[in-house]
Amino acid sequence: MQSDLRGRDLISDLDFSKEEVETILDVAWDLKRKRALGEPHAYLRDKVLAMLFFFSSTRTRGSFEAGMAQLGGHAAFIESRTTQISHGDTEKEMGEIFGRYFDGIAIRHVDWGIGNRYLNLVAEASRVPVLNMQCEIYHPHQCLADIMTIIEKKGRELRKKKMVVSWAYASSYLKPISVPQSLILQMPRFGLDVTLAHPPEFKLMPEIMDQAQEQAKKFNTSFEVVDDMEEACKDADIIYAKSWGPLLTTQDPEEGKKIQDQYQHWIADDAKMALGKDDVIYMHPLPADRKIEVADSVIDGKHSVVFDQAENRMHAQKAVMALTMR
Ligand code: CP
Repeated sequence: MQSDLRGRDLISDLDFSKEEVETILDVAWDLKRKRALGEPHAYLRDKVLAMLFFFSSTRTRGSFEAGMAQLGGHAAFIESRTTQISHGDTEKEMGEIFGRYFDGIAIRHVDWGIGNRYLNLVAEASRVPVLNMQCEIYHPHQCLADIMTIIEKKGRELRKKKMVVSWAYASSYLKPISVPQSLILQMPRFGLDVTLAHPPEFKLMPEIMDQAQEQAKKFNTSFEVVDDMEEACKDADIIYAKSWGPLLTTQDPEEGKKIQDQYQHWIADDAKMALGKDDVIYMHPLPADRKIEVADSVIDGKHSVVFDQAENRMHAQKAVMALTMR
């Protein structure tokens, strides 16, 4: 167990070593147990987290805010459009100033080519931890909840288990690529064999793919890429199927929609789930485009663990906050 994570930022999934992630998971389960028993766990009494949002959220906002309250502190919800950022407050100023008011700064900024840089510049100037509530490259707190859920459902011995991270069709908007990128970085460290499936236009960032290959090699797991959802789902233990935009191909929403519309058959439906093992689980970070990205019978069916995943956001984030913001 790595016992001192005080003051650390969590921006990229690989910012914490595998041992440090295991520490977070251990603390998350302890906090989950304490909440179930109604045991007080006010480790962050009088501490305040700034939650700065440049993009909408349901789960991330709710889980960070509830989590801080349960830890005895408070979370301040700040929408960027209600601040003076558009009138000149720089990243350095935000880091310097919010670092003096708050005990942690959590930021969601998913704009392509801008969000991750913004978080890193705020972190450089801040004296308190900066926590990534999703940027265009990573969604590390989602990924912590995901590995926590996988271990709860499949046990700690994950070696030789097959996890499919698949693109799925959605029509609502060009979703960020941060969830699949975080998954392919983190999951090999826990022994999972990862199969990434997507149509050709939906590639992930080459540097993230290289890092994922390195992690797979280091942890002696397999990492393969296919362009066929059915092929990917065969014998899967875990099917994590969600949409992301063709952002390396185009950032134009109209052009992106035209590309996406060619692949409407990439839906997580009963036929795809039937290709997996009998006890395959279906995962999605939500929100999902129901009937388009995933069939109701799958997301509401016996294989789905999406609500446990959403719940675990809160427990995992409480652990990160308790360990970094003390
Ligand atoms: N999964 C997730 O990040 O949900 P929100 O966008 O609602 O925060």
